[in-house]
Amino acid sequence: MKRRSTQQAPSVISTAGRLSALVLVAGLLATLTVARASDPGMSGFELRGVADAGAPLFQQHCADCHGTRGTGDGRQGAAFGLVLRDFTAVEADAERYYLATRDGGMAVGLSAAMPMFRHTLSDDEIRDVVAYLVQLAPRGPRGKSTAPSPQDDQR
Ligand code: HEC
Repeated sequence: MKRRSTQQAPSVISTAGRLSALVLVAGLLATLTVARASDPGMSGFELRGVADAGAPLFQQHCADCHGTRGTGDGRQGAAFGLVLRDFTAVEADAERYYLATRDGGMAVGLSAAMPMFRHTLSDDEIRDVVAYLVQLAPRGPRGKSTAPSPQDDQR
């Protein structure tokens, strides 16, 4: 009897030790994930989105406000009494667009009428739809007619 209990003790300790090691690792991973999530605020933001994949997402989730061509003339957009930006007429800022789409307009100092999509779309989908927006921006003399490849969206 006595023997069994002394044998048990170390194994309980090592289980506890293993558990706390697991908790530690999980904590570290969580910290790393949080650090990664805030990375776009630092230099070296990479959009890595695919504009072609973002196009249908834009029609589904954004066109009501931003217009089917991204020019800011969506039916709902007018209801806010705001002039929505014409994505085909301004220089794109991939990081800013990404943050606005993920965290909502207030994240970039704009109206809260711009909803956050981090609970609606996956991070990849957000990057795709933003790549689509970036692609709408004028490039070259005839603007979007230069049809950039998705790689062009990485800055
Ligand atoms: C309910 C209406 C609504 C919907 C839906 C909506 N937006 Fe917006 N969005 C706004 C408003 C209002 C603003 C702030 C005014 C502006 O900058 O045009 C805004 C601003 C933005 C901006 C910031 C533009 C800048 O000046 O930097 C981006 C980027 C953007 N929206 C992307 C999207 C994307 C992508 C979707 C779909 C996934 C979407 N929006 C869906 C209303 C909407």
